[in-house]
Amino acid sequence: MDSWWTHAVIYQIYPRSFMDANGDGIGDLAGIRARLDYLAWLGVDAIWLSPIYPSPMADFGYDVADYTDVDPQYGTLAEFDARQIRVLLDFVPNHTSDRHPWFVESRSSRDNPKRHWYIWRDAAFLDGGVPCTPPGSSLAGAPTSRSASSRSRPPNNWLSNFGGSAWQWDEATGQYYYHAFLEEQPDLNWRNPRVEAAMFDVLRFWLARGVDGFRVDVLWHLIKDEQFRDNPPNPAYRPGMSPYQSLLASFSADRPEIHALVMRMRRVLGEFGDRLLLGEIYLPIERLVTYYGPEGPAAHVPFNFQLIQLPWTATTIGVAVEAYERALPGGAAAAWVLGNHDKPRVARRLGAGQARVAAMLLLTLRGTPTIYNGDELGLVGVVRPAPESLDPKGRTLPGFSRDAGRTPMQWDASANAGFTTGGPWLPVQPDFARVNVAVERDDPRSMLSLHRRLLQLRRTDVALARGIYTPAHRGDCVVAFGREFEEQRRVVALNFSSDVQRVVLEGGVGGRVLLSTHLDRSDAVSGEVLLRPDEGVIVAVEERRRSPRPA
Ligand code: GLC
Ligand code: CA
Repeated sequence: MDSWWTHAVIYQIYPRSFMDANGDGIGDLAGIRARLDYLAWLGVDAIWLSPIYPSPMADFGYDVADYTDVDPQYGTLAEFDARQIRVLLDFVPNHTSDRHPWFVESRSSRDNPKRHWYIWRDAAFLDGGVPCTPPGSSLAGAPTSRSASSRSRPPNNWLSNFGGSAWQWDEATGQYYYHAFLEEQPDLNWRNPRVEAAMFDVLRFWLARGVDGFRVDVLWHLIKDEQFRDNPPNPAYRPGMSPYQSLLASFSADRPEIHALVMRMRRVLGEFGDRLLLGEIYLPIERLVTYYGPEGPAAHVPFNFQLIQLPWTATTIGVAVEAYERALPGGAAAAWVLGNHDKPRVARRLGAGQARVAAMLLLTLRGTPTIYNGDELGLVGVVRPAPESLDPKGRTLPGFSRDAGRTPMQWDASANAGFTTGGPWLPVQPDFARVNVAVERDDPRSMLSLHRRLLQLRRTDVALARGIYTPAHRGDCVVAFGREFEEQRRVVALNFSSDVQRVVLEGGVGGRVLLSTHLDRSDAVSGEVLLRPDEGVIVAVEERRRSPRPA
C-alpha cells in the first residue's frame, strides 16, 4: 500500500518569514494557523516547518537549545498540538546550540558524564606528543602546555561550513570541540549510544504528538571518521567558491557507518506507523541513492538538490533527471526541490519565465516534491549590503548571506505586504503591491495561479500523480518526458529557451494541451507541439491503441 507521502506535495514554511500574528516582526505559529486556508486553497498536502524549538537563534533555530518545546517567539506546544494539517518537523540531530544543557554540562569539565556527548579532541601536537609544525616555521617552539597557543593547532584540517576551522578551542578544559557550522553549534557525538538514545527519544516525543515525519538536517554529517583523518583538497575548487569547498568532506561526512544509523532512525519512525523521514543530503547522485537503504524506500527519501545546483540548461537538466530515474532503487521516488531557506530564490536564479518552466518540471516529475514558501508567488527576495547580513553565514563569508532567500511572504498590498503590523525582521520586496497572494489569486495568469493549476492537475490526473516516468525527447533547448498510467499518457514538454521550439510527439499521435505555463491555451495538437519562448506544456496524448471506429 502507498504511504501518505508517496504522491504528496510538501510545502516548506520558514516560520520567521511566513506570517506574524502579534506584530513583533517575526512570523509565528498563530500566523501560520491564520494562513492555513491559503494552503488548503493552494492544494499542498503537508507542511515542513523549519525549526520552531527554543533557540538562541544564532542560526535562526538551527541551533536548538531544547528539542522538546516551542520557542516563545513562535508560540507554545499547545498551539502546535492544535494544528490542522500534516506537519513535518525539522529534526536537527547533528548539533545542538552551545546553550543546550547537554553542552553546558559537557564543557563544564573533562570528566562530566556528558563530556563524550560532543566531539572533544586534544590539540594536534598534544595527541602525538610531537609538534606538527616543521622547525623554523613561525609556530615552532610554541609552548606545549594548555595555553592560548594551542589554538593554532586544531586536531585536523576540517573546515566549518560557515568559514574557518571547524574546531573551537575551549580554554577552561584545554581541548577543542568540533562544529561543522557555527561555534555556537557544537556537533553531537553520534558514536555515543547515549546520544542516539536521547535523540531517538526526541523523535518519539514528537511522533507521539502525531507529527507526520521529519526533515532531517544535514543527515549525511552525523557520523565522522573515527580516526579524524585530514580531508583531502578538492581538485574542482575555484576561487569564488565557499572556502569550505576547498576540501572534500571525505572524512567529516558521508561515512559508511551512517547507513546503519539511518536505518535505526527509520525504525523509530516505523514504531509509529506511516511517517516520513526526508533527509537533507547534498551528495552526488550515486552517493545520494545509497541513502534509500537496503530495505527499500518505504520510509525514507533523500532530497535531490540537482535542480538547484546544476546549470539550468535543457541538456544538463534532462540528463540529470533521466540519470536519477535510472539510479533510483526499484519503487523509490525522488524528492525534488527548486529552493529552500539556504539558497537564492528560483525566480532570482532563473528569471520569471524559466521559473514557471521550473515549477512545471517540479510538479510533474515523479515523486514527492517540496515547494519553498514564496516561490509560488515568484518572489526574488531582497539582496542587502553584506555588512547588514543577519544570517551568520553572510557575516563570516561576505557574499554568502542567505537573507535574500528568507524575506517575508507577501500577502497583500497593505503595509509590509500584510506580513506584519510591526517592523519585519527582513524587508519585503519593493514591488510587493503587485507581487502578493491577494493580487495573484485574482489573476488567472499569475505564477500563483500556475502553481494552483499544477497542483490541481497533479491531484486529479492519475498519470501525473502515479504514472511511471518515460524519457521522451531531449534536445539543446527542450526537456520532454512522459508520465504513463495504464492507458493514460501525458507528455510534459518544456522550452528552456527564448525561441520557439517544436516537439514531435512520439508516433505522430495527437492530443490536447492540458496546461501551459502561459495559462492561455488548451488547444488540440497533432503529431507535434509548438512551444513559445519560456513555455512548458502538459499534453494529454491520445491513447495509442485505439480500436478502429465501427463503420
Ligand atoms: C542545514 C540548514 C541550514 C543550517 C545548517 C546547520 O543546512 O538547512 O539552514 O544553517 O543545516 O544546521
Ligand atoms: Ca510574531
